[in-house]
Amino acid sequence: MCEGARTDVGPLSRFLGVAARLGFGGWAVGGTGWGAAGEDSERAAAIRHAVERGVTFFDTAPTYGGGESERLLGRVLKADRERVAIATKVGPRDDPRASLEDSLRRLNTDYVDLVQLHETLDRWEWQLEKLHALQLAGKALAVGLCNATHRQLERALTLAPLATYQAPYNLFDRDVEERTLPLCRDRRLAFLAYRPLAAGLLGGKYAAPPQFAEGDHRRQIYWFKGKEFERRRAVIDRLRPIAQGQEISLIALALGWLRSQPGVSIVLVGARNGAQVDETFVPDPRPLTPEVCRAIDAIVADVFRPARSTPQLGDAARTWGERERFIAARLDGTTRYEAIAAEWTDTGDKPMIAAQVKVFVDQLVEQGLAEV
Ligand SMILES: NC(=O)c1ccc[n+]([C@@H]2O[C@H](COP(=O)([O-])OP(=O)(O)OC[C@H]3O[C@@H](n4cnc5c(N)ncnc54)[C@H](OP(=O)(O)O)[C@@H]3O)[C@@H](O)[C@H]2O)c1
Repeated sequence: MCEGARTDVGPLSRFLGVAARLGFGGWAVGGTGWGAAGEDSERAAAIRHAVERGVTFFDTAPTYGGGESERLLGRVLKADRERVAIATKVGPRDDPRASLEDSLRRLNTDYVDLVQLHETLDRWEWQLEKLHALQLAGKALAVGLCNATHRQLERALTLAPLATYQAPYNLFDRDVEERTLPLCRDRRLAFLAYRPLAAGLLGGKYAAPPQFAEGDHRRQIYWFKGKEFERRRAVIDRLRPIAQGQEISLIALALGWLRSQPGVSIVLVGARNGAQVDETFVPDPRPLTPEVCRAIDAIVADVFRPARSTPQLGDAARTWGERERFIAARLDGTTRYEAIAAEWTDTGDKPMIAAQVKVFVDQLVEQGLAEV
């Protein structure tokens, strides 16, 4: 049971429930950006297995595999079209109408259940209004937004009848807890959580920082390297006995935690083949108890303890930029990095996320200007 999750968002409502559901994330089946692409048949099997396991929500984008994810979903979901929701996106630099019409052709369908603006760059307000016009024209049953600040999300609610908001969320990456997830609960938006496995890390398969192949987007992700990798691995090692005690996999534990967070409607999980889907999309998993969720939170909080400044920090910070000084002034040993990032984002047009605070604080600790 996921308290506060929205179930009443127009035509999409039939794909939502009182409890948060697992949805299929279609990035990896696009065949690029995730290392060596599997055979077409393997990637198609991932989608088919998801349908067989009762998944009814499929998320994709024109950029996933340069359209290949949409083409594959269109082909495999053809027979089930009316029984599933297909959600796609429009890129921040793309013309909404042209982009959605191309998506519909690749998806081999007359409409998508949800069209989402992928990012908010310069013309995002205009794009959102165009997406609403496309909804009125019947090309999309609902409109959503991804990766916005809470101020943009509030503004977006005045521009179009938004049904959903999509952003990264897992037990490590918790920026949304500060502003946007509570806003979704208050304003009756369905929240779609992406990267629930931290791009595969929460599967627990990495004992050391992985060396991803050229072209794999995970080469750029900071948590697969350095101190952040070590911290996350330390958490994962302490989660293993909890998962064993619950007689579930680490993946089920991570997804169960997410499904228990108030306001989450759909957890979008990516998979590259049928075997991964069979492991991940376990039918009707037992919800985690509040005690188990609290135990997970306590481990994360213990490993990710906020830093405290050392006496040398004040002097050193005097010549820094505004953002660095803003962070430095809040290193009191108790303020969460997500809270620092959200407070900064409240103040202007340049958003910040907790990852940026963590990377900066790691440098300060190395220089003896902060300690944990
Ligand atoms: N709106 C946005 O800006 C945005 C951004 C990112 C994602 N998304 C959406 O959210 C979806 C989910 O996010 P994501 O795909 O980036 O990350 P994710 O769901 O956290 O991780 C997916 C990856 O985990 C690994 N995995 C999955 N099942 C596994 C299993 N049973 N055992 C071991 N490894 C397993 C696979 O990678 P390996 O096999 O290579 O380890 C898979 O590609 C995407 O597909 C996409 O639809 C949206």
